[in-house]
Amino acid sequence: MKTALITGANKGIGFEIARQLGRQGFQVFLSGRNEEKMEKALAQLTKEGLQAVPLRMDVTDKKSILAAARQFSSHDIKLDVLVNNAAILLKTDARISSDADEIMEQTITTNCFGPLLVSKAFLPYLNNPARIVMISSSGGSMTDPVGGWSPAYCVSKTMLNSITRQLAYELQRRNIAVNAVCPGWVKTDMGGAGATRPVAKGAETPVWLATDAPQNLSGKFIRDKRVIDW
Ligand SMILES: NC(=O)c1ccc[n+]([C@@H]2O[C@H](COP(=O)([O-])OP(=O)(O)OC[C@H]3O[C@@H](n4cnc5c(N)ncnc54)[C@H](OP(=O)(O)O)[C@@H]3O)[C@@H](O)[C@H]2O)c1
Repeated sequence: MKTALITGANKGIGFEIARQLGRQGFQVFLSGRNEEKMEKALAQLTKEGLQAVPLRMDVTDKKSILAAARQFSSHDIKLDVLVNNAAILLKTDARISSDADEIMEQTITTNCFGPLLVSKAFLPYLNNPARIVMISSSGGSMTDPVGGWSPAYCVSKTMLNSITRQLAYELQRRNIAVNAVCPGWVKTDMGGAGATRPVAKGAETPVWLATDAPQNLSGKFIRDKRVIDW
């Protein structure tokens, strides 16, 4: 049975990725920072006949990440897929030239250091071959016209894309594919009600990268199963 760990999986796109991988027969490690929310998410999956193992992890807290990795190691299994999905977009994230420094700090800590530290902590437990999927955003693109919305969030996704390329380069020897994916504008708490995509569509390409995408596709930025410009 294949295994996958998804961060920030108690709701939104992360929960949907867990659900879709569960339907494909994966043993899913459902990770989140809040016990109560995770219990609710687990109950929902159980109701749907799917199985998931809870793994408490706050991606901004190194101790919590290392404790989660230790807990995972007690299962004595390897991970086939790691999905770094957890992220924040602060409502106060409006103007890079004048916002409080803490907005950038908090956003980078969660959206960049989070995925990097989680990837490093779980590296010893990744299979050969394995896949790391970074949930990024077109907001991080340096090709699209930039500006006008949530600058700290956009900067954090540019940095995440760069982390993706560096990890992909270093991990090719271990047969670990690492890609960044833009899920599109998705109806979640983060995306809002005006978003154009249902959550199932938002999870589609991340799930493809976790399963059917060619193993030698690595170090790329992907949207709708196609490579896009950085
Ligand atoms: N929705 C969109 O339109 C859209 C577009 C492009 C990219 N994305 C990306 O897609 C991913 C999922 O977004 P979403 O729309 O599903 O957002 P969401 O509904 O706000 O869910 C975000 C998830 O991340 C978790 N999280 C936040 N900080 C965390 C931390 N420190 N430790 C652990 N978990 C944490 C949240 O947990 P809590 O419930 O505890 O807060 C929640 O489970 C993100 O990477 C986002 O940037 C979304």
